[in-house]
Amino acid sequence: MKVPDAIERVLLDEETIAARVQELAAQISADYADAEDLVLIGVLKGAFVFLADLARRLTVPHHVDFIALSSYNRGAVSMGAVRLIMDTRASVTGRHVLVVEDIVDTGYTLDYLLRTFRARQPASLRTCVLLNKPERRRIEVPIDYLGFEIPDVWVVGYGLDYADRFRTLPYIAVLKREVYEQRSGGTEN
Ligand code: IMP
Repeated sequence: MKVPDAIERVLLDEETIAARVQELAAQISADYADAEDLVLIGVLKGAFVFLADLARRLTVPHHVDFIALSSYNRGAVSMGAVRLIMDTRASVTGRHVLVVEDIVDTGYTLDYLLRTFRARQPASLRTCVLLNKPERRRIEVPIDYLGFEIPDVWVVGYGLDYADRFRTLPYIAVLKREVYEQRSGGTEN
């Protein structure tokens, strides 16, 4: 498969991602072995690939639901305003909730999600995040299960996008800086 011109380099290849997702699934399956009602909540659109792979490797019964958010960004810079554009289908009250997110950057999105779900009184609330950019954090958020820590670069592929492009690349790659620094506008997660 040809690597698109906008890509600077591959950061995490398919095998590396698959091995880590398997490890996370094993850990989550062990931790939730006795949980009555586990629901994974994927944050659209970015987490859909990660969630699909993770969920299929869990060995404990679980449900899958989704939530969609919109954060107003300028180019690749988060402006901190998060808005709910699609809520989960089912209630989370009294259930074990695991929020599945693609990446934590400033932390505003995950913080918003945790506040939203906490108010609904789940039996428990944890987070599973594929990528973490700790250098960019503006607000502290708990990450219970983490795939990889990455530097402050814009990454695409495996569900992650830039302006809704590159989501279905099978690997995670660094976008060339000139691509994301020249544009501005709103994006969806
Ligand atoms: P935060 O609210 O700043 O933590 O940003 C979280 C959201 O920003 C993620 O759910 C992504 O949608 C998006 N995001 C942040 N960094 C990247 C990146 O490097 N690639 C693609 N999306 C990103």
